[in-house]
Amino acid sequence: MQIVILKDAAEVAQYGAQIFADQINKKADSVIGLATGSTPVALYQNLISRKEAGEVSFAHVTSFNLDEYLGLTGDHPQSYRFFMNEQLFDHVDINKANTFVPPGDAKNPISACKEYEDKIVAAGGIDVQLLGIGRNGHIGFNEPSSGLTSRTRVKTLTKETIDDNARFFAADEYQPHLSITMGIGTILDSRKVVLLATGENKADAVQAMVEGPLTASCPASALQMHKHAVIVIDEAAASKL
Ligand code: GLP
Repeated sequence: MQIVILKDAAEVAQYGAQIFADQINKKADSVIGLATGSTPVALYQNLISRKEAGEVSFAHVTSFNLDEYLGLTGDHPQSYRFFMNEQLFDHVDINKANTFVPPGDAKNPISACKEYEDKIVAAGGIDVQLLGIGRNGHIGFNEPSSGLTSRTRVKTLTKETIDDNARFFAADEYQPHLSITMGIGTILDSRKVVLLATGENKADAVQAMVEGPLTASCPASALQMHKHAVIVIDEAAASKL
């Protein structure tokens, strides 16, 4: 694990965006893994600016997102497909047919998980996977107790994660308790992994991921086993290291 500690969230976004821009400029048809949540938003804004400045093109890029709420269609404002369209895809030159998000509206979610894995393999595997981290150490929606070699599957969300993400839903709005998420094994198969974390409220999770034991109780600790994992954090998220 390479740990990069920067001053603030803006520097974290800039550093992370540079890794993705370098990857795409080195290999135009890169396969990139993308994440949702509030943390990667600034990175996506940075990539949009680079695209507008002619510094990077997504024309030949393929993307796979980590996860999706089960029970939401892609046009639901809280779905991760909707989020990706709004935060990145609608603002860059990516071919939307080459952007993949697990299907939250799958009629058969079990077979949809297997199909998602097959699509990643058919695309040649993921060159660089972007990750955030939940306060309980989850990556994607791999909640504590997730198998460290797990593949894409349906996962129940913990109460803590549901509560953390409730801020995105209106008070009377249906909030799913299930997701489809790449497994920890799927994530570890990526050739490079870049995890971003910012803010004091991530300090405990970052400490457990970096200094704690390798354990399913902290799914992000599995990144200790990855040969090319870069953890990019600000001083607040690093405050318990
Ligand atoms: C969700 C996503 C994760 C993300 C996490 C943290 O649970 N499934 O991929 O890392 O939120 O989000 P935030 O960056 O908003 O703290």
